Amino acid sequence: METYTVMLPAAGSGRRMGAGFNKLFLELAGKPILMHTLDVFERDHNCEGMILSVKPEERPTIEQMLQAYGITKVKAMVPGGAERQQSVAACIQAHQDGGVVLVHDAARPFIHQDVIRKLVEVASEYGAAIAGVPVKDTIKVTVDGVVEQTVDRSKLWSIQTPQAFRYELLKEASEKAEADGFLGTDESMIVEQLGVPVRIVESTYDNVKMTTSEDLLFGEVLLKRRQ
Ligand code: CTP
Ligand code: MG
Repeated sequence: METYTVMLPAAGSGRRMGAGFNKLFLELAGKPILMHTLDVFERDHNCEGMILSVKPEERPTIEQMLQAYGITKVKAMVPGGAERQQSVAACIQAHQDGGVVLVHDAARPFIHQDVIRKLVEVASEYGAAIAGVPVKDTIKVTVDGVVEQTVDRSKLWSIQTPQAFRYELLKEASEKAEADGFLGTDESMIVEQLGVPVRIVESTYDNVKMTTSEDLLFGEVLLKRRQ
């Protein structure tokens, strides 16, 4: 089994959560969301190291938390950017070793180890693999509030993180996106721009991103179920 490094953008401000501070410091079952996420990778023997992008003013708080929660695999903390893609780009520039890398939202603490394993396996063989789940709702394209078209749901996937890549490929994609001024909503988009096929690995519906306050309620339930 191939090992990997995980890049975790954690430099957002959590505007939609409305806590008035970075949502990653909110607690689930008495432990900060960020620490729940890092703990998944701390416990995964195939994870060689973590690179975090953080807001410089939050770095001391995060360093204290790493101590308090016994997180030992953080190799670097780099300053995040105004957009998520820039925060990830900073992690990419900080990595030295090649191999397979994962990009994972620090706000998704419920990712399963078997999905991570599969992503690393597929990215190692083919270059790029992303986690996703089949769309459950009917999706329609609208124009000015009127339905224009109903999309064939059997082809639709909701995409999550982690997204796994051979490092050299992700680095090339990131540098090209920067040069072109292209802003994607995930790393897959910038790799797609290179014309490289990106494979989907089926994930689980409980790999939710803690985005709005309802997600915290769901998160508490998920933690109870797993204990
Ligand atoms: N992120 C980041 N740098 C940014 C924006 C986001 O590192 N400039 C990180 C967040 O900390 C989070 C992940 O990217 O772990 C996913 O982003 P999102 O869920 O959108 O978090 P926020 O941007 O913090 O939330 P919001 O969009 O509601 O402000
Ligand atoms: Mg955001």
